[in-house]
Amino acid sequence: MSEQEIKVPDLGGAEDVEVIELLVSVGDTVEAEDPILTIETDKASVELPSPGAGKISSLSVEVGDKLNDGDVVGMLEASDGADSDDSGDSDAETEESEKPEEKEAEQEASSESESETEESKPAARKKSAGSRKETVLVPPLDGMENVPVIEINVSEGDTLEVDSPLVTVESDKASMEIPSPYAGKVDKVLVAEGDELSEGDKILEMTVAEEEGDDEDDEQEESSAESGQESQPAPDAESQQDKPEESAPQPQGATYEPPSPGTKVHAGPAVRKLARELGADLTRIKGSGPKSRILKDDVQSYIKSQLQQSQQGGSVGTGSGIPGVKLPDFSQFGEVRREPMSRMMSVTAVNMQRSWLNVPHVTQFEDADITDMEAFRQSQKAAGEKKGVKITPLPFILKACAAALAELPQFNVSLDMERKEVVRKQYIHIGIAVDTHNGLMVPVIRDVDQKGLWELAEESAELAQKARDRQLKPAEMQGACFTITSLGGIGGTAFTPIVNTPEVAILGVSKASMQPVWDGSEFQPRLMLPLSLSYDHRAVNGADAARFTALLGQLLGDIRTLLL
Ligand code: COA
Repeated sequence: MSEQEIKVPDLGGAEDVEVIELLVSVGDTVEAEDPILTIETDKASVELPSPGAGKISSLSVEVGDKLNDGDVVGMLEASDGADSDDSGDSDAETEESEKPEEKEAEQEASSESESETEESKPAARKKSAGSRKETVLVPPLDGMENVPVIEINVSEGDTLEVDSPLVTVESDKASMEIPSPYAGKVDKVLVAEGDELSEGDKILEMTVAEEEGDDEDDEQEESSAESGQESQPAPDAESQQDKPEESAPQPQGATYEPPSPGTKVHAGPAVRKLARELGADLTRIKGSGPKSRILKDDVQSYIKSQLQQSQQGGSVGTGSGIPGVKLPDFSQFGEVRREPMSRMMSVTAVNMQRSWLNVPHVTQFEDADITDMEAFRQSQKAAGEKKGVKITPLPFILKACAAALAELPQFNVSLDMERKEVVRKQYIHIGIAVDTHNGLMVPVIRDVDQKGLWELAEESAELAQKARDRQLKPAEMQGACFTITSLGGIGGTAFTPIVNTPEVAILGVSKASMQPVWDGSEFQPRLMLPLSLSYDHRAVNGADAARFTALLGQLLGDIRTLLL
């Protein structure tokens, strides 16, 4: 056995980089490249990898220490068989230089220097007072490809400074903010959370203010334009502000559980990975590290407390203890092809399961007689065409739900089982499930109770289109009190939707059809709309659910009552 130094790799010029977390202890056994500690510059967090397999025999640093290139942070007692690699510092360094973590450090360094180069571009391109359009592209990501966007930090219309963070991407090992290379105004955001980015992908379009002077640099600009290079910022910075996986890809299932808007999470890649593996929601965890940073211990303590709660009958069970589904070898039955789940699909799957496991669901069915409503809707078609707005049954249903939520406010709540509190919402925002090529998305219409039918028709069509074009902003998918999922345009007679937690109810709408309805003396042909209300039986009792659907039936049966 021999001892090997664990050294800080080339930090690409960064100095006095702070240790923010120790990931191993003396005596721990590690594999080559296992993370030893996390260091953080003001721009990025990087994990320092073990140079080999073995046992940590000493650690000479503590959280808060400042490190530089080549500093020794501890010693590794190489395990048998690993000794042969231990052929001195120079070899170790050569080997280390090929490690991805160091590449990341290099990347940051190079990104910083590139950042400077690129930052000089906007200035170099200044020609005359006025403005110009720029498309900001993903900078080189040091060989990494398809890195998921976990947060969009800007919106259309935002005014940015040079270096303002645009989006946060997260690889397995590092989170990075891509900074703006320009000062200016955001015209169009071209990416959405969950998108996977590679070098050269477009991030957004900007209008960049130009100043007088610097004509001599025009040629430089033109030649770079001719060579087809659009402006690229350098990758910068580990995000100290990203949201956890649950919130990252706003693509959501009907069970999407949004974090509170503005929730920021401070955690390194290793902690994020651990949280993902354990299914822990980082927005719920209080960090005990420097600057309230979440440490591995915090994640583990959180999971422990959640397990204890669920054993004691608490509400926030993670589904642990439920036997998993064992997959057979499908190829024994015929040819199969495997493909990775999209990020949206995997997030939706987690959220669906979480909701299904946590919420005691009951579904209440009702048929609403919409014969008169439909006649009115048809009578408004010409007016709609003039306005350029198509009026479907959805705006009527939205309006009826808003009225029912106001009359039966026990449906407009969320349960905080940790604090044993009911959160009563004093606003009526309703989510609409939209079927898109990329999966289900749930944009939210705000203050439905205060809007008219035309406005609701226009807004729901606009949001649905934005969802299909993947243009929804995170804020447009947050804050719903209740969700409507309408399959009426497709078909079906009834279904049992899953409650979109932390909401407590969701209305499923199926296809309206002509039915013979007994009026006391004879059967009348009436257009009946099937409604399926799933609700959280902890928050809502069955009688109230029947009242809610009966009320919807009345409101949709005679839409004049919506005015009362
Ligand atoms: N019964 C009969 N017809 C209906 C209907 C209903 N309940 N709801 C809509 N229609 C009709 C509309 O009137 C329209 O017909 P028209 O052009 O003759 O007027 C047609 O069906 C298509 O309507 P659509 O484009 O779907 O508009 P919408 O306003 O009803 O719905 C969305 C908008 C976004 C909700 C809808 O397009 C959608 O994506 N639904 C799927 C939601 C989903 O996947 N849920 C599953 C969650 S698990």
